[in-house]
Amino acid sequence: MSAPRRKPVEALSEEEAAEELAALAAEIAHHRDLYYRKDAPAISDAEYDALEARNAAIEARFPALVRADSPSLRVGAAPSEAFAKLRHGEPMLSLDNVFDAGEFAEFCARIRRFLRLDADEPLRFVGEPKIDGLSINLVYEDGVFVRGATRGDGIEGEDVTANLRTIADLPQRLKGRFPARIEVRGEVYMEKADFLAFREAQAKAAAEREARRQRGEKLGEAVVIPANPRNAAAGSVRQLDPRVTAARPLKLIAYAMGAASEAPAQTHWEYLARLAEWGFRTNPLSRLVASEAEAEAFQAEMAERRASLAYDIDGVVYKLDRLDWQARLGFVGRAPRWAVAWKFPAERATTRLLAIEIQVGRTGALTPRAVMEPVNVGGVVVRHATLHNEDEIARKDIRIGDTVIIQRAGDVIPQIVGVVKEKRPKGAEPYVFPTACPVCGSHAVRPEGEVVRRCTGGLTCPAQTVERLKHFASRRAMDIEGLGEENIEQLFREGLVKSPADIFRLHRHAETMRHWEGWGERKIAKLLEAIEARRRVPLDRFIFALGIRRIGEANARLLARHYHTVEAWRERMIAARIAGSEAREELGSIQGIGPAIAEELVEFFAEPRNRAALDDLLREVTPEPVAVEAAGDSPFAGRTVVFTGTLATMTRDEAEAMAERLGAKVTKSVSRKTDFVIVGADAGSKATRAAELGVRTLSEAEWRAMAGIG
Ligand code: IVH
Repeated sequence: MSAPRRKPVEALSEEEAAEELAALAAEIAHHRDLYYRKDAPAISDAEYDALEARNAAIEARFPALVRADSPSLRVGAAPSEAFAKLRHGEPMLSLDNVFDAGEFAEFCARIRRFLRLDADEPLRFVGEPKIDGLSINLVYEDGVFVRGATRGDGIEGEDVTANLRTIADLPQRLKGRFPARIEVRGEVYMEKADFLAFREAQAKAAAEREARRQRGEKLGEAVVIPANPRNAAAGSVRQLDPRVTAARPLKLIAYAMGAASEAPAQTHWEYLARLAEWGFRTNPLSRLVASEAEAEAFQAEMAERRASLAYDIDGVVYKLDRLDWQARLGFVGRAPRWAVAWKFPAERATTRLLAIEIQVGRTGALTPRAVMEPVNVGGVVVRHATLHNEDEIARKDIRIGDTVIIQRAGDVIPQIVGVVKEKRPKGAEPYVFPTACPVCGSHAVRPEGEVVRRCTGGLTCPAQTVERLKHFASRRAMDIEGLGEENIEQLFREGLVKSPADIFRLHRHAETMRHWEGWGERKIAKLLEAIEARRRVPLDRFIFALGIRRIGEANARLLARHYHTVEAWRERMIAARIAGSEAREELGSIQGIGPAIAEELVEFFAEPRNRAALDDLLREVTPEPVAVEAAGDSPFAGRTVVFTGTLATMTRDEAEAMAERLGAKVTKSVSRKTDFVIVGADAGSKATRAAELGVRTLSEAEWRAMAGIG
């Protein structure tokens, strides 16, 4: 894998540097895996160090090219395995973005609609500068800091308690009056000046290390040169040795609340005051804004002050001030309805369009993607941009070789906003969109009135097959851990997995996989274990995992709730093929399933290969019925339930409201009349009492399953 690299770093062009950094990232990751996980290094320590040094030297010369997956930003093999997992008392959410006053007004209108407020009812928000750092969750018990974690996937993060304790801004003990148990959320960050000084010191250390290497001396730990303050903060918090974290100039600002044993305030503004009383640093620039107009003025003011602040901000977070309204609004997906990040305008840059790649998706859609000369757009190196569809390319008249203006806004995939026509090379031809699938060669057709062209190869198209497999195993579908995109591609390439059912027969091929590079005993055992764990899944996940066009998570849930069992669903879908049949009428009558969706389902089941693949899969997997959310049918209808402890996936209020919707009577204390006690984390006497009285207790997962929450 390691080719000799003789070209001196000084002689590299930017393009060559980007290419080599990509290769080095893959190569170093590979050797770390061999070394740390498999205890089977393939190269000497000196050779390995040379790779890291080369990577560091190129990064030092081209700081803008530092990759998100750069080995210099990671320690060891898989940093996420270096820390214990910690489950947050309440999920840590992200925020939706808006970019202008119009979008902010829409956000406000949605709040008013949801709360049934008059259009002229003023909404009061707290505006907080959005600092670009690392968000963390801090748990205080009886006022004492006991645990702290990174956000992770929002449900569980990494336990970085020891490292967080070294941050001077973090109160080890709360002052004044506080709830017995509370989660405080905030941002760990590095100020701009501290970052620059730190970066310089790291660069110096890297140079010294390089000199030692050339003298053939012992090297010690690799030196990381962070690309931006965010990476510097994140890397510092995720150190294995807290003494390293302690030496870093980290700051902490508190701004949000997680689970709490009692409400410490009625408004967010008041909550910020509590945080300050308890001893946290809060942002002095945060402001109460009484209307949309005031928010707009604050936004303009912050945009102006942005450059002169001691830290980087990328926008302003607006949070509805009233906490009772926040609770009623709740969440959609991963973001609250009551808060939004109003980002500063997108950053732009120009670069050259080298090629247009066509990707083939799970449902055969051909999606064009721009491949460009790497360019730095607001601190991130961009090489690809989405081109949406063929009409978009024609409308903007984008040609290969053109100088294009690209724009990156927040976490959004970069887009091409236009072409610099004056710089168009002579002879550049308008782009002709392919009419055949670039992977299987089948016709690619575009039905009247649609913008997407699709490969007609169906299950015979390898690209579609692989994409379906990726979808099947993905987190929101079957959620098979360790079966990520790369592994699926390899398993498919090697011919071991051609259909979803093959995944569950993979155990027969353990011996074959053992011979593959990078597939150690442990990796195989873990993968097979993860597969076995998913032989029983809720029916809605199963239906979603099949990847039928237009059947997203919500529609899958509707189908699962309506048909209860996979057998019933399968049988009724096949019967629904006949127009006007009772089964077809039934499908059409399901609230939320429109004619287009029904059509897709019928088409899927009309294809014999799809039915064969499904039946094959059902020999391996047992989908489990989901409970129905209809008061009459629910196992909770007419029952008395009590919630105790902290639920991880929903608030107590939300859970109680849901139980009531299912026809339950919710009470606060456990008695002989209680039918179910739902036990969350850290439950106390109520759980004990339930056991004494022989009342049935449910875990959070059991409650969710019985309540039919996906
Ligand atoms: S509140 C439900 N407040 O932005 C509210 N987040 O996209 C969730 N952030 O992961 C977060 N400053 O890292 C909040 N004043 C602020 C923030 C802030 C920065 C970051 C945070 C979070 C991300 C959400």
